[in-house]
Amino acid sequence: MLGEKMFDKDFEEIRAISSEMGCFSWTTREYQDDILNFLITNRHQGRGVVEVGCYKGGLSALLALVCEKFEWPFYTIDVDQSAIDSTRGLLERLNLDRVATIHLGDLGSFVSNTRLSERPALIILDGDHRYDAVVKDILDTYRLNMLPYAAVFHDFTLRHPTSGEKVDQAVRDCFGTDYPINPIGAKMIGDGKYPIKEKPSDDGHWWEVPGSEGAIVELPQNLVLPTIEKQKESWGFRSLLKRLFR
Ligand SMILES: C[S@@+](CC[C@H](N)C(=O)[O-])C[C@H]1O[C@@H](n2cnc3c(N)ncnc32)[C@H](O)[C@@H]1O
Repeated sequence: MLGEKMFDKDFEEIRAISSEMGCFSWTTREYQDDILNFLITNRHQGRGVVEVGCYKGGLSALLALVCEKFEWPFYTIDVDQSAIDSTRGLLERLNLDRVATIHLGDLGSFVSNTRLSERPALIILDGDHRYDAVVKDILDTYRLNMLPYAAVFHDFTLRHPTSGEKVDQAVRDCFGTDYPINPIGAKMIGDGKYPIKEKPSDDGHWWEVPGSEGAIVELPQNLVLPTIEKQKESWGFRSLLKRLFR
C-alpha cells in the first residue's frame, strides 16, 4: 500500500507498546499525523529525520519507524539523561534502535559533532521554547552541513506566565513574511478545547488565539537570518572601533 496510510498498522502497534511502557508524547494525535503524513508525502525531498527534544520517546518511535521503512537515518537529541534512557529503552524494545543515533546534548553540540551524509527530510524543534533558545535552534539548524528540507516547531503559540514560551514570535522574526509558516496539529480557535488567556489552565499556561499547536516551514536555502545580520553588524562595529583605536 502506498500513500499516507501505508504504515498505519505499524504505528498502532508502536502506540500500544509506547503506552504500555509509559513512553507517551506531549503532542496530539493530530500533530503526529500531520508530521507522519508530511514525511510520507515529501519522502523524495530528503533522507532522514532529526528530532530535538525526545522526552519519553513517544513521537521518536513513530519517526524511527518511518526512517526504518525508508532506510533513512534517525537522529534524536535531548539535554536530559532520563529522556535519553527512556527513548533508548523504547527504541530497543521496538527493535528500532538500529536506525537511531541518540545524542545527549543540545542541537549546537550535535552540529559540532555530526556530519550528515544526506539532507534530512525534516528537523523537529521541540526542546527549549523560550525566544532566544528557539532562535538559537534555528541558527544551529543552518549550521548543519546539510540543511533539512523542512522544520517543524511544537508548542507554536503556547504561552506561560513565567517560563517565557515564544516559539511563534521567534519563528516569525527569523523567517519574516517571505516564507510560508503552515500551522499543524491542534488549531487554537477559542472553542473551549484548550486554555486561552482569559481562561488559563491551573498551571497558568494558555494558547494564543488564533494559533496552533505546531507549525512547519520549508527551509529556504539562502535565508538571511536577522540575528546573523545583527551579529555581523556588531562584528563590523567592533572591527571599526579596533581600526580607529589602533
Ligand atoms: C516538550 S518536551 C518534548 C516532547 C516530545 N517531543 C514529545 O513528543 O513528547 C521537551 C524536551 O526537550 C528537552 N530539552 C529542553 N531543552 C533542550 C535543548 N536546548 N536541547 C535539546 N533538548 C532540550 C527536555 O529535556 C524535554 O525532554
